Amino acid sequence: MIETEKLQQVAEKSAEQRCIDPSCDARFELNERLYVCPRCGGLLDVALEAYANADPEGLRAVWTSRLASFEPRDRSGVWRYRELLSFAADAPIVTLGEGNTPLYDAPVSAAYCGLNALALKHQGCNPTGSFKDTGMTTAVTQALILGARTVVCASTGNTAASLAAYAARARLQCAILVPRGQISNAKLAQSLDYGAAVMELDGNFDDAMRVIRELAEDESIYLVNSINPFRIEGQKTVAAELLHQRDWRVPDHIVVPGGNLGNSSALGKGFKELRNLGLIERLPRLSVVQAEGAAPFAGLFESESEVLKPIEHPQTLATAIKIGAPVSWKKALRAVLESAGSVLSVSEQEIADAKAIIGRDGVGCEPASATTVAGIKQLVASGIIGSDADVVAVLTGNILKDTDYAINYHQEKLYTHDRAADKTKEERRLTGTYSNPPARVKATKAAILEGLRRHEQEHSGNI
Ligand code: F0G
Repeated sequence: MIETEKLQQVAEKSAEQRCIDPSCDARFELNERLYVCPRCGGLLDVALEAYANADPEGLRAVWTSRLASFEPRDRSGVWRYRELLSFAADAPIVTLGEGNTPLYDAPVSAAYCGLNALALKHQGCNPTGSFKDTGMTTAVTQALILGARTVVCASTGNTAASLAAYAARARLQCAILVPRGQISNAKLAQSLDYGAAVMELDGNFDDAMRVIRELAEDESIYLVNSINPFRIEGQKTVAAELLHQRDWRVPDHIVVPGGNLGNSSALGKGFKELRNLGLIERLPRLSVVQAEGAAPFAGLFESESEVLKPIEHPQTLATAIKIGAPVSWKKALRAVLESAGSVLSVSEQEIADAKAIIGRDGVGCEPASATTVAGIKQLVASGIIGSDADVVAVLTGNILKDTDYAINYHQEKLYTHDRAADKTKEERRLTGTYSNPPARVKATKAAILEGLRRHEQEHSGNI
């Protein structure tokens, strides 16, 4: 039996669900249909005890050999690392070839942040255009294992689009709950095309999240928000793919946006497990960046308080992370503290400018993703990240997820939702610091050449 099969078998036997609260530490069967600990209400982790005798070199070699394979499980950037997952070898895998996302060198963004170099791990290059696919492949596979008929999620748009696609592949009924009028058209369009039952709720994401937990009490319905530990399992493999792409060199810092805090929790878990396996010797420092108007986690970190204080009316134009009561904050806090990372917030202007700068590297992302570059700029300025540090920013969504935002920025028509009643519309307008509006020209060669000359003049020395 080859080494990897042996590992897989051990994994099947020794995986369980475990409450993350050390004072509870309750354990449950892997395939018990749970979302939170039935004993104390805490979050659950999938725990694998399989690797006491793991052979790091063997694992690296197996994973590299799979890069040359055309088998769907090997082509997936999640299932390629299946030794890290609790699933049985014959699990009914639902895959769209997720993962395999590029790691770009980004010199313009690096210079903007005050760094010598910066790498962008572009999770927006997943099949539905966001990082959610890496967790949805495992969560929907688990839904099939549990015999669910209907899968549901509450979403600011990306989880919904991703679930709708994977549910369609699995032929499961899919219901998505989105805050009405608060998600981008592109994300809504995806969910409609993939055939989901789209429920537009009066209220915000946190209201949708509350309702959905009630819905999930129904046995035939399976909830796949990131509170579901099987979502986190898929998303944690991004740590392995990233390190594999870097020949197992650990970056000094990894920086992610923070909304519901599933992604930061998952990356933290991924790096920690790879360290426990002996694949890496240290953890990268994990930092989480939130939008100023939706930053309860940054508030918690700053105040060093024990409990997260939700924000009742979160506000940000980065609608993906417009969340006031993040479900996974305890897991994310654990990951940040264990890796000596930090949590911070950035303004709407900083997000908008950082997004335009990332664009100048030829890499498009949605506004939420740009919090990373804005956050890194702050962390460099405050000395937490040194200018020669090895830094990776995780871009979570594709630019095509929110084209209205980009067009409005470049035409200087982007307005914040500032609640301060005394602010005029003009005062709420963001500056198009790096704006690049389209030019209207006559259909003649001379007009176009003149347009080009003017564009060069206006943009030289801009960045
Ligand atoms: N970036 C994007 C593009 C997102 O869509 C989200 C979350 C995040 C960052 C934050 O990640 O929640 O794991 O901390 N979007 C969820 C959704 C909430 O419903 O699509 P997180």
